[in-house]
Amino acid sequence: METRVAPHAQGKVYVDKLFGTGMAAKQASIQYGKENVVDASMGAITDDTGTLICLPTVEEQLRTMPIQEMISYSPVAGIPTFLEAAIKHTFGEYRPDAYIRAVASAGGAGAISNAIWNYSNVGDTILTHDWYWTPYTTICNETGRFLRTFELLNNEMQFNLESFSTSVKNLLLEQDYLVIILNSPNHNPTGYSISNKEWDEILKVIVEESHNTTKTITLVVDIAYIDYTSNPIQARSFMKKFSDLPSNILVTFAFSMSKGFTAYGQRTGALIGVSSDKTVIEEFENVTLVTSRARWSNVNRGCMSLLATIYNDDSLLTKVNSEREKYNTLIKERANIFLQEAKRVDLKVLPYYSGFFITISCKNPEDVSNRLIDQKIFVAPLSMGIRIAACSVPSTQMYGLATKIKDAI
Ligand SMILES: Cc1ncc(COP(=O)(O)O)c(C=O)c1O
Repeated sequence: METRVAPHAQGKVYVDKLFGTGMAAKQASIQYGKENVVDASMGAITDDTGTLICLPTVEEQLRTMPIQEMISYSPVAGIPTFLEAAIKHTFGEYRPDAYIRAVASAGGAGAISNAIWNYSNVGDTILTHDWYWTPYTTICNETGRFLRTFELLNNEMQFNLESFSTSVKNLLLEQDYLVIILNSPNHNPTGYSISNKEWDEILKVIVEESHNTTKTITLVVDIAYIDYTSNPIQARSFMKKFSDLPSNILVTFAFSMSKGFTAYGQRTGALIGVSSDKTVIEEFENVTLVTSRARWSNVNRGCMSLLATIYNDDSLLTKVNSEREKYNTLIKERANIFLQEAKRVDLKVLPYYSGFFITISCKNPEDVSNRLIDQKIFVAPLSMGIRIAACSVPSTQMYGLATKIKDAI
């Protein structure tokens, strides 16, 4: 086959299985009627009529924003008031005692990608858990990195420290820069959250390793779903632990407005760096800014301005938080319906704390998914299981779902 792309780009094909499933679900809804189709594939919040929702205050602010504010360019690093708000939102009451800087990014995905690019070499291996958001692989492949996984869960269905520790140690023997991505709380796809005790253990491993080496360890904490915990204030308490770490450990947070502010397609987020060393954090800010300039120049001004406005007005912030809480409760109710039934029919579900998704580990996920499609149920087939989007399945459709999945498996 003739190819005209440069060698590094040859053979690239993006197969978006999830998008395909979503399209098939929409088609089925048109054909058979919305009420007869269960679309559990979509990672966005819908109300119980199946309509995608936007937090009302977010909508109001966007609709009343002066057009110039929406369409103007913004500084590459991001609007300063947005960066301040992103930092405030990320840490809440648990800001670490460290130097902290933020650089705007095209969503959480852009933040993760920028961290990988600047804190690992081409050819390096990035570490994450075995259940993970698949774009991590795409980002690694596209930037000439490899992705290696450790087991997220042990037999007790808790964070697998042993697997994590072994992987960290092995990779540090192989390369000078190690980027580790941990997605918590409300991990996608399982809904698992790393406990504070587990964070202590994770940090102990990293800090011990950092003492034995001059190599750089960069932690990327992917907090895309942090606002959908039972207690979003308390969910941030682990962040205080990133105070006074050795200077060869850089902690970064991938902040995203996609889920927390229902601004999915507005592509607004930030990479937030935390370091005990002023030069390290200044370097972080500089290199991240250059990567942003090269990749997308600057990000959506209107959406950055929206966050700044919300954080500049306590009453707006309170409103947004309570609007989000309403949907958080709705997701929780739906998840509970599913989990209670799963327990009744003995369907093993991976540990779900809260968040958008629930995952069932199974063999041949594609076959299971196809069997469910025959019953007009659309789930996300993963490599080791299937994922149910509690964020988008109306409560009435949650009843009976666990039983049907159990039968399909
Ligand atoms: C685990 C995880 N991380 C990060 C993101 C980032 O999303 P975005 O790039 O839209 O901010 C998502 C979105 O689905 C996600 O599921």
